[in-house]
Amino acid sequence: MTTASRLLVIGNWKMNLDFVEALHLGQQIGVILKNRPAEHTDIVLAPPFVDLRSVSSIVDSERIAVQLGAQHVSQHDNGAFTGEVSTAMLKRLDVRWVLVGHSERRSMYHMDDEVVAATLQTVVQAGLNAVLCVGEDLAVRDEGQQSDFVSAQLRSALAGLDEKYAEQVSVAYEPIWAIGTGRSASGEQIRAMASTIRAQLKALGLAGTRVLYGGSVNAENAGSIVSEGGVDGFLVGGASLVAESFLAIIGACDGCYAGKR
Ligand code: PGA
Repeated sequence: MTTASRLLVIGNWKMNLDFVEALHLGQQIGVILKNRPAEHTDIVLAPPFVDLRSVSSIVDSERIAVQLGAQHVSQHDNGAFTGEVSTAMLKRLDVRWVLVGHSERRSMYHMDDEVVAATLQTVVQAGLNAVLCVGEDLAVRDEGQQSDFVSAQLRSALAGLDEKYAEQVSVAYEPIWAIGTGRSASGEQIRAMASTIRAQLKALGLAGTRVLYGGSVNAENAGSIVSEGGVDGFLVGGASLVAESFLAIIGACDGCYAGKR
């Protein structure tokens, strides 16, 4: 089971919802949260960059109990990097969290291990919280190499990170074969990987880092995954685009946590 003092659920909206639609979803989440507040779970919304300002303003004006996240950030502070966004720009919009090295960035936008490590450094040095995404593809899993693969990803991104940044780092285990496929990893597979990740984090001096799971999490499977998988929360894609299902996932985490205390 989780040993984290609070769970964490992040909604990754990916490239969905324009700013008007984003406002609407933010409002709906706010209304449901007012009726069913999460007591043990931190909630983060990660909309597209162009939606951040409107979501930030609704979160502020309606006092919604969520924090803002970005799906990506540049490893550089400023300059001639067409199409990129910096940590300073995100901070001005009250963004507190950044996903680093999501598998879609790694596979579609050539974000290699070196860039992932540099970006993670930039994020924590800026005082933001980094959610490092790791996970194997199906070929690696079929060969039984998933533990070695994910451990290597963790070492490459986190080795040498100053321990003073430990509290700003979370890890999301997202097997690529489970993302957006409707086929989530089993509780057993997640538990095994969560313990591999925790052992590796401990070896890197980062014990206590929250370990999340992501990949086809929905309102129906969230409760069993969080208890059987022993994770500290979720990174949710598709199901975070519907307020009711996102809040049901948060409710499942919260309920599981409360039941185990
Ligand atoms: P999914 O995406 O929940 O739609 O599978 C998860 C993710 O990519 O973060």
